Amino acid sequence: MRLDVVTIFPEYLDPLRHALLGKAIEQGILTVGVHDLRGWATDVHKSVDDSPYGGGPGMVMKPEVWGPALDDVAAGTAEGQVLDSSLPHLAKPRHDDIEGVAARTYESGEDSDLPLLIVPTPAGQPFTQADAQAWSNEEHIVFACGRYEGIDQRVVDDAAQRYRVREVSIGDYVLIGGEVAVLVIAEAIVRLIPGVLGNRRSHEEDSFSDGLLEGPSYTKPRVWRGLEVPPVLFSGNHALVDRWRRDQALLRTQAVRPELLNHVALTPQDQAVLDSGR
Ligand code: ADE
Repeated sequence: MRLDVVTIFPEYLDPLRHALLGKAIEQGILTVGVHDLRGWATDVHKSVDDSPYGGGPGMVMKPEVWGPALDDVAAGTAEGQVLDSSLPHLAKPRHDDIEGVAARTYESGEDSDLPLLIVPTPAGQPFTQADAQAWSNEEHIVFACGRYEGIDQRVVDDAAQRYRVREVSIGDYVLIGGEVAVLVIAEAIVRLIPGVLGNRRSHEEDSFSDGLLEGPSYTKPRVWRGLEVPPVLFSGNHALVDRWRRDQALLRTQAVRPELLNHVALTPQDQAVLDSGR
């Protein structure tokens, strides 16, 4: 997979070189290109924004700068900076390298040669685990990071000719710009690429992958500060442990995010557990 990020703060994307994403870069599963938008600015001040038509506070990012930037990145003619991995990880097995899942090649998710353009904005569709899953099959994703009051809307409308465009929000709050949202979205996507996380079960049991929040987890010691690990986890009975985990997931979801239960297929046993938790 190739990710390209267009931003006025290239250094903000540096965390993508670390940890699991750094490992994916090192393995050749992932390439990350970071592009300074000011490289496409044409005036002496390298300005990328201007005051909004119709008045109001803040600044809007200019179409004459964004348009050529997205054209060049889509065409693969923009050099940018290709991130290297921050650490040599390959020699060190990670704690989650259990099943050794092979890497695979990618096909575009929607039967199209167009790259996917993701524009993070609080005015976008909510980003979900299902999006992360679908986009983990993409070959090339470009992120456009807006700042200030956003990007002139015509940039997004015009980009639809060269890209499949998605405007997405990572939550109901406003960040200063799209860079942190890109870190969030990129990490959620890349960890789902086979061969990156190593252990496939790690994400099959993730919160949201079955529509439920994940229940609690425990490790040694058995008793810590007087608090005991639930005894069922020592039973050696996998069916019992799986049932207990499902119950915990159901009860946590009911307590914290009850609206998620509307989209989960519940068995009569699940329903009985939920009724007991009310
Ligand atoms: N840019 C600013 N706020 C954002 C949000 N909540 N999600 C995505 N991009 C943003």
